[in-house]
Amino acid sequence: MDDKMKKLKRIGVLTSGGDAPGMNAAIRSVVRYGVYHNLEVIGILRGYAGLINGNLRPLDHRSVSGIINRGGTILETARCDEFLTEEGQRKAVETLKRNRIDALVVIGGDGTYRGAIQLWDKWHIPCVGVPATIDNDLNGTDITIGADTAINTALEATDKIRDTATSMERVFVIEVMGRDSGFIAIHVALASGAEEVLVPELSHNLEDMCRDIVEGSRRGKNSWIIIVAEGAARADKVAEKITEMTGLETRVAVLGHIQRGGNPTAQDRILAARLGAAAVDLILNGEFGKAVGIKDGEINVVDLHDAVKGKGAVVEPFYQLTRILT
Ligand code: F6P
Repeated sequence: MDDKMKKLKRIGVLTSGGDAPGMNAAIRSVVRYGVYHNLEVIGILRGYAGLINGNLRPLDHRSVSGIINRGGTILETARCDEFLTEEGQRKAVETLKRNRIDALVVIGGDGTYRGAIQLWDKWHIPCVGVPATIDNDLNGTDITIGADTAINTALEATDKIRDTATSMERVFVIEVMGRDSGFIAIHVALASGAEEVLVPELSHNLEDMCRDIVEGSRRGKNSWIIIVAEGAARADKVAEKITEMTGLETRVAVLGHIQRGGNPTAQDRILAARLGAAAVDLILNGEFGKAVGIKDGEINVVDLHDAVKGKGAVVEPFYQLTRILT
């Protein structure tokens, strides 16, 4: 251990951007693993906004009791435009220096990582990232914390909509989140037995889709579930087209923010526990400007710059299978 690493005593942890189920489990892991390794841990409230305004809260073993199963984030989160400015970053750095915070764990998605890149590259603040976003759009990890819970939440809603769609002989267009990623959509489509799915990674011909629906209707099929990723199309526009071309009764369900809430699944809690500890290990080893992830079941480390390079969800095989099995 060199001198610089020996001096490292106090770390900060924040959650930023859209909350994701499992963020609390990640905070708990960072705190308890850090305390186990004799680090003091300071929670920063409301992400980078809290860093700018100096909203801090010391966290100990007890203060993260009873949160492993809770959705949201006890540290709260925000999207912070002020942090994009030089002045905002200067204030954030002053907060860290004034409170003698030696290194920072950021938990979040693309925007959160971009903030950490600024802090590390421009201001030399040691930062490490933990991937938490329902969108699963970061490189260096097979899956991000929160994505599994979001899929399961959207799937449960889709199953319920299937009940009414079948009973009332309707077409349902269900819009799921994911920003520019079709990850949630493609998984929900395969798992729910949806008839069609529209994702931003693939081009789609709505007229062909409508012809398939008409053809199915002639054969006696009487209900359809169409999953639409928010980055691919607007569900109401798709529904209008379907009504216009098929004459079938069509309804829209935009699942929205329910996909961000709820108790994290076992997979998300376990992922968060492992990645929170792995992030502290990076700090203890003096490896900064990096993010942790999971690849083929093992902890993986990636440069923050590479993590945000835009991972395309692998959708093609799932798309083909969804179509074959429908
Ligand atoms: O990044 C997570 C996410 O839920 C996206 O899927 C969605 O596009 C966006 O955040 C919604 O953001 P907001 O909660 O700010 O409306």
